[in-house]
Amino acid sequence: MSNEDLRNIILKKGNLPRHIAIIMDGNGRWARKRGLPRIAGHRAGVKTVKRIVEAAGELKLSFLTLFTFSTDNWQRPKEEVSAIMNLLYETTKRELIELEKNNVKLIATGIIDELSPKRREILKKAIERTKRNTGLVLNLALNYSGRSEILNAVKKISRDVSAGLVTSEEIDEDLFSSYLYSKGLPDPDFLIRTSGEMRISNFMLWQTSYTELYVTEVLWPDFSVEDFYQAIWAFQNRQRRFGKI
Ligand code: FPP
Repeated sequence: MSNEDLRNIILKKGNLPRHIAIIMDGNGRWARKRGLPRIAGHRAGVKTVKRIVEAAGELKLSFLTLFTFSTDNWQRPKEEVSAIMNLLYETTKRELIELEKNNVKLIATGIIDELSPKRREILKKAIERTKRNTGLVLNLALNYSGRSEILNAVKKISRDVSAGLVTSEEIDEDLFSSYLYSKGLPDPDFLIRTSGEMRISNFMLWQTSYTELYVTEVLWPDFSVEDFYQAIWAFQNRQRRFGKI
């Protein structure tokens, strides 16, 4: 079956996830299997990013979050960290016109201020230039960790309570969510993780409470549009109960 046929089946079925989050894993293993340096895996991973963003746009998904760089990733060898960062910024710069053309709105969640000023500027420019776009919202979780996001929210709420802006009784799930980096984004309906690992890895801990999980053995650089459609098809055929019967 062609990708176009698969896409039509998915669109006809309806019940598409509004927000898909992806833990893009397996770039290193993909490279090792080929006797290549790890960075070759990340470079191939960028190509997957491009095709999945396009496919998400074609399906008219509302939100796509990509776990691009975790705060724990800083502990990788310096050369690898800087290679990933360079790839990310080169790609943002290169694809900006494409994002504008395809009505994609780029946003970033994470500790963006810790990135180097030059890189922050490239990202800010892309965010600024696409902020009026009304199509897919592409959220890059960048220098992100779920626990630090929650701690950061707790600190901000505590400050607001001390300043008398909020009372502790007013703190409910909606208010708490509004203090997270993901403020304004709906919780992901569906989380895809590539390369077979059955872990959340400190990703969107608050937001994934009722998210449907999907793990595929496929390594991120090999993750095709067909694999993406198959994952979505699996989601469409699940029953979500949100703790009810
Ligand atoms: C996980 O594979 C991948 C990363 C930590 C980096 C992902 C980043 C990119 C693909 C660049 C993103 C670019 C844009 C434009 C969003 P791994 O290295 O953990 O693989 P392994 O577990 O096999 O070692």
